[in-house]
Amino acid sequence: MRVLVAGATSVPGLPLLRELTARGHEVTGLTRSASKTAQIEAAGAKPVVADVFDVDDIGKVVADARPDVVVSLLTTLPKLGPKRLKDFEPARKLWSAGASNLVAAAQSAGVRRIVAESVIFAYGYPTTGPAVLDETDPYPGPPPKGGDDMLAALRGMERNVLSSGEHSDTEGIVLRYGCFYGPGVPHDELFVRLAKWCMLPAMTGNGIVSWIHIDDVVRATADAVDHGRGGQLYNIVDDRPQRFGDYVRELSAKLHRPPPIPISHRLVGLVASYPATAFGTTWLPLSNAKAKAELGWTPMPRV
Ligand SMILES: NC(=O)c1ccc[n+]([C@@H]2O[C@H](COP(=O)([O-])OP(=O)(O)OC[C@H]3O[C@@H](n4cnc5c(N)ncnc54)[C@H](OP(=O)(O)O)[C@@H]3O)[C@@H](O)[C@H]2O)c1
Repeated sequence: MRVLVAGATSVPGLPLLRELTARGHEVTGLTRSASKTAQIEAAGAKPVVADVFDVDDIGKVVADARPDVVVSLLTTLPKLGPKRLKDFEPARKLWSAGASNLVAAAQSAGVRRIVAESVIFAYGYPTTGPAVLDETDPYPGPPPKGGDDMLAALRGMERNVLSSGEHSDTEGIVLRYGCFYGPGVPHDELFVRLAKWCMLPAMTGNGIVSWIHIDDVVRATADAVDHGRGGQLYNIVDDRPQRFGDYVRELSAKLHRPPPIPISHRLVGLVASYPATAFGTTWLPLSNAKAKAELGWTPMPRV
């Protein structure tokens, strides 16, 4: 198939270009910047340059590429992840306006399927709940304090993709990725460095989130391109939801470092309010049973 990947230069984007190419697809990668086209070519794809905020440009690029499938990995967050809600402002604009331009371009070019990146925090930020949440309980949690617009934009993007097949030939699939870890993930590489220096704090709190290795993100996304079901939402998470503090303790042990020092999530919140909420108090242990059953995908065991 012909596949166009928007967000081709993102953390999951470049390995996805390689995976799709290895599976025999003819892959095009979108970037805003001519200086990044070499990375896309090196990953085996044909680069195209456009900004999704430019309706005409993105329409032309999608029409010219004639893809069977469009993948949207459009996000724009600080390299080491958001520290405060205001860090989501560019992403909020991208989810509100940019992503819908891409969906409209796909619809008008008669693209068969669009697969879009979302994140487990689209479920909201509940502080308690069942032992495992699945896709049948779509939005149980409230936004973080002051984050109504951000969460509404993310959920609006999801709804736009999921409902696409109801009024066009372009069916939509949304993938809610867990929190990334693994090689090439900037914040995880920072965690590893801090753990090696015995400086990674084990943030306390009752929150629990779902995680995903970047290689599993790539395989699940390619599986959704190949045989996901239109109009469906899939949790792309590994088998072990875990508290941030436990994640950090395991990482330190793996690196043969002493147990990290616990630090209250309230204290972390003074300098980084968003991670203190997202990892300190949010309750998102998610099931991956639907993705396993329908995509034929299984995450690697976490070692
Ligand atoms: N689930 C998770 O844990 C999760 C999810 C996402 C991100 N993150 C983390 O957040 C940090 C930043 O990642 P990121 O993915 O936001 O940044 P990124 O790696 O810079 O990727 C953003 C992608 O979106 C594209 N893009 C942004 N605005 C665009 C526009 N207007 N038109 C066309 N393309 C546009 C960029 O294209 P060009 O720059 O090439 O134009 C780039 O390919 C990383 O640490 C990452 O691991 C974590």
